[in-house]
Amino acid sequence: MFTSPEALAAGVAAAVARWLRHDGTDVGLAGGSTPRRAYERLRRARVPWAEVTAWVTDERHVPVDHPDSNAGMALRSLFDHVPATLHEVPWDPDPEVAASRYEQTLRTILPGDGGPRPGLVMLGIGDDGHTASLFPGSPVLAETTRHFAAVEVPGRGWRLTATPPLLAGARRIIFVASGSAKAESVAAAISGDRSLPAAVVAGLAEDVVWMLDREAAALL
Ligand code: 6PG
Repeated sequence: MFTSPEALAAGVAAAVARWLRHDGTDVGLAGGSTPRRAYERLRRARVPWAEVTAWVTDERHVPVDHPDSNAGMALRSLFDHVPATLHEVPWDPDPEVAASRYEQTLRTILPGDGGPRPGLVMLGIGDDGHTASLFPGSPVLAETTRHFAAVEVPGRGWRLTATPPLLAGARRIIFVASGSAKAESVAAAISGDRSLPAAVVAGLAEDVVWMLDREAAALL
């Protein structure tokens, strides 16, 4: 548990940099706002960036230059500043086409014979317990074959998201959460409340690390 959002960002950046130096060269990026500070800190980290392949664990159905784009946030905060490769979700007016094309990209850039098997995956958590764009009650939670899928989320429009089969193959998942609004969903997810997609995903992975600031960890 980290004492502040800034300490959390420094801790996450250090953990990601350590992984990319010693354990693997691919990283799935969390979207949203929490990871931005960590991405900014990674600009100055000791990482063999030219060897690094990055992808996004979910995306809004917008072009990368849209202010809501997760890939756009990652580019502005880190990947425009280092020689790593960030694979963006290709824009297509049909979200199903975009998701299918991205799944093919993931099959080519990620290790794994029987299907993409990510190394390090960073994920956030919503106050409702969603992670990536896997929201409570989402039909994608029951996905068993596709690794990336399009899903219409009530009140949020179309989203493109990593699926449980893709996330289950990760060698390590780091969940990052900051702030009191996340305290309940973090505690419920860690306790294994499988009504929360974050708990479902955490239960699938072989190695899960929760990186929290004091407020997000308040109910543990
Ligand atoms: C997204 C994210 C989503 C995010 C959580 C937390 O596209 O919004 O992938 O899963 O990680 O909603 O978002 P914040 O970091 O903004 O609280």
